[in-house]
Amino acid sequence: MANQPWWRNAVIYQVYVRSFADGNGDGAGDLIGLLDHLDYIASLGVDGVWLNPCYPSPQMDHGYDVSDYFDIEPAYGDLQIFDQLIARANKLGLRILMDVVPNHCSDQHAWFTEAVAAGRGSKQRERFWFRDGQGADGELPPNNWKAVFGGGAWSRITEPDGTPGQWYLHTFTPWQPDINWLNEDVVDYFDRMLRFWFDRGVDGFRVDAVTVVGKHPDLPDAPSIAGAVAETDAWAFNPYTVFWPSAHDAWRHWREVTNQYERDHPGRELVTVSEAYTPGKPDLLLRYVEPDQFHQSFTFDLLLSPWNALSFHKAAARSYQALHDAGATLTWALNNHDAHRVVTRYGRADAHLMSSWTGSNLVNSAAPVDLELGQRRARAAALLILGLPGAAYLYMGEELGLPEVLDIPDASRQDPIFARTEGREKGRDGCRVPMPWTTHSASLNGFSTSPSAKAWMPQPDGWGAFSVEVQDYDCNSMLALYRQALSFRVDMVEQGEVIEFVGDGTDGLFSFTRGSYAVVVNTSAEDVEIPREIMVGRKLILGSLPEAFSQVDESSLIAANSAVWLG
Ligand code: BGC
Repeated sequence: MANQPWWRNAVIYQVYVRSFADGNGDGAGDLIGLLDHLDYIASLGVDGVWLNPCYPSPQMDHGYDVSDYFDIEPAYGDLQIFDQLIARANKLGLRILMDVVPNHCSDQHAWFTEAVAAGRGSKQRERFWFRDGQGADGELPPNNWKAVFGGGAWSRITEPDGTPGQWYLHTFTPWQPDINWLNEDVVDYFDRMLRFWFDRGVDGFRVDAVTVVGKHPDLPDAPSIAGAVAETDAWAFNPYTVFWPSAHDAWRHWREVTNQYERDHPGRELVTVSEAYTPGKPDLLLRYVEPDQFHQSFTFDLLLSPWNALSFHKAAARSYQALHDAGATLTWALNNHDAHRVVTRYGRADAHLMSSWTGSNLVNSAAPVDLELGQRRARAAALLILGLPGAAYLYMGEELGLPEVLDIPDASRQDPIFARTEGREKGRDGCRVPMPWTTHSASLNGFSTSPSAKAWMPQPDGWGAFSVEVQDYDCNSMLALYRQALSFRVDMVEQGEVIEFVGDGTDGLFSFTRGSYAVVVNTSAEDVEIPREIMVGRKLILGSLPEAFSQVDESSLIAANSAVWLG
């Protein structure tokens, strides 16, 4: 829409770099591979690309352990290739967003190794959260905080003189020491980092794990948790870091930095999007998109929702009411590199049950999966999020209907969650399996330029059946549906951002009107009549199933587990 910043209704394609395309033949994705496939991304009709972290990193959490925020991971390329990527993206009309990780860096970052070397009480240690341990010899951690990926949130170092020393806080893994945002060096460092990448032409940042960046300065024990809670969810109940308000000073400061950059560089329009899981709590989400903080914050409620119209209605309506009314933009996603892929989630035998709304992206149902049903529902869900007002983030492979790979051999698993929970939780490798581009098994289904490369994460048998090559010329493929929806979305966006919900989902339909358009999703197992108030004066524009056209025109029925756009 005219006079709106480009990002407000943008569709951004998320690239998990090591799994997208391997351009140097080593079995892991890289920037050359991405450059070679940028035309494909543009052909989808999206507005931009978000790159998961591609800075130098020991890869203990695949890039979310950054050892240098001012360079490119050598296995992925270098700054020169990055510049080429920006130039090519500009030509194709694609924006590039990077991923910034403010909560922690790698334990191999120079700041951390210097802090360990500098000793107790040093200025260098103040950039992190070093504390003496409890117990007679400081042998117990300073408090009871739990780490997100299993185990405790503290590790003990050996002091330069060889004695057992202080402990440092790590909300995720021991390889990711938490940074102290009350320290001025930290604030200056990240200011420089943002500007460094803006100067190279980056249009914005996805900001990692913002909800845990603040910490109660005294680091008190977290209250004990009532009831059974999954190992990777225990951290979420710690009020002394999760949503601790001091972090908002940093976000307000970052907004000043981006606003100032825009003023100094007329024509540049930057965006920051925060990763804050706030399921069922739009008031908390709202705090991140106040006009002086992030431009966007993911609305994860749909990603966490079961396949159920009632729950879709709740998720969308309460987020819409809170954010739209406040003038903030909504930011939807069904998938990302941390969550089980939607085809598998919706194919689960319990996918329709409200009780399968866990509010967690790391804890998954173990119910049996019907992939055909999951595909059918995922097609409908695509029309759902692409029809809603606001921005939509798509995760690579979602447009191919890739399922979660559930049977990765334990020996191949790399997500630290697997090792940190001693295998009790499998982790996120299953949504990070290298993309299938063709059916040539020798090149890892077109993922690699080398016929002999070994994929960093194995592709399952039959992976090529999902490939771009197979779907490109099939007008009923998932890929074709995404392309069609993205092209019709341009008109949908012209309808504005005001929507009216029709019904509350109890009849199995999640429906809303948007100007002269309407979106209807049938999550029930029956065909259902589309309400008259939606049908009157409207015709089918797009259906998630090819048969939608004859069915809607003849009988106003929407098929089970499907969606339509009317206008
Ligand atoms: C990212 C994860 C990452 C974690 C630690 C997140 O929420 O999305 O992939 O492991 O932060 O940085």
